[in-house]
Amino acid sequence: MPIVLGIESSCDETAAALVDSERRILAQHIASQDEAHAPYGGVVPEIAARAHADKLAPLIAATLEDAGLALHEIDAVAATAGPGLIGGVMVGLVSAKALAMASDKPLYAINHLEGHALSPRLADPGLDFPYALLMVSGGHCQILRVEGVGRYRRLATTIDDALGEAFDKSAKVLGLPYPGGPAIEKLAEAGDPQAVPLPRPLLGSREPHFSFAGLKSAVLRAKESGVHADADIAASFQRAAIDCVLDRLERALDEMDPVSTLVVAGGVASNRIVRAELQALAESRGMRFTAPPPALCTDNAAMIAWAGLERLGAFEPDPLDFAARPRWPLDPGAEPARGAGVKA
Ligand code: KG4
Ligand code: ZN
Repeated sequence: MPIVLGIESSCDETAAALVDSERRILAQHIASQDEAHAPYGGVVPEIAARAHADKLAPLIAATLEDAGLALHEIDAVAATAGPGLIGGVMVGLVSAKALAMASDKPLYAINHLEGHALSPRLADPGLDFPYALLMVSGGHCQILRVEGVGRYRRLATTIDDALGEAFDKSAKVLGLPYPGGPAIEKLAEAGDPQAVPLPRPLLGSREPHFSFAGLKSAVLRAKESGVHADADIAASFQRAAIDCVLDRLERALDEMDPVSTLVVAGGVASNRIVRAELQALAESRGMRFTAPPPALCTDNAAMIAWAGLERLGAFEPDPLDFAARPRWPLDPGAEPARGAGVKA
């Protein structure tokens, strides 16, 4: 049974995992850099690259040891090759190339977004193509029709901030630690989601794209006004952001060739209210809903190993001179969204 070693280093998590084709995670290690970046309120690329370089080799060794496997017993090496912070991506990809070369195993250079997009299939063996995917992370906010491995049709993206970025920036305004998503979710439990009037950018607009920059600025104004409790701001922000997501998703689903399953992936998918609201939306449309367990939503190497398993046998391995890609859209044919700071 094929076993793939996955490596992830595109942002601030250094991770390695061994996954087999029966969807078993044989071993995995994740080293978070949250503490190193916390004083800066966001990820510092140079600190991230150095931390990946320090941590990755021992982490891979520990993962192999936990699984009781030697390098020659695995069938392929899969590593995130982009998009992401280029220094970190290069650390992971160069390590993967060295391991592939030393063991004479195939290399799969994985698009990090494909890792997120296919992660629900690692957790849910019943999830078949095609499905509608809401991908919400710190760097990306997209709605895709996932038609097969390597076949993605993007219906929506953000014209400014990603959803996770909006959580992170709003958390910073409220003096909460990085990453802001979990901190906002926790604080919001004590707040009133109706207390602070906040905008819902692009609500009802024709194209299903997202925008969160205006919401984030409104959070700053609400904080500066001094009249609202932080918990109320957090709860109202979370409510407004979710209202936007639901509206945009309905729009995209109306536009998309019909699919029977709605899927959410990416770091923000670990938010319990986001999951519950998406489940309700799917039910109202007679769709099945599935989301990976929270630990598979935030960055991890099991999803990269799984993407490698999905490609193994079906696609040619990638060459050892495959270059790291800072930008790498899943659907290169998608029409560009218009707006400031557009993310592909
Ligand atoms: O997928 P991910 O780990 O990394 C990227 O590829 O970006 O996503 C990280 C993002 C961060 O913006 C973080 O604040 C957000 O996911 N996040 C959450 C939650 N947990 C993580 N946002 C809202 N609620 C959460 N519970
Ligand atoms: Zn990610």
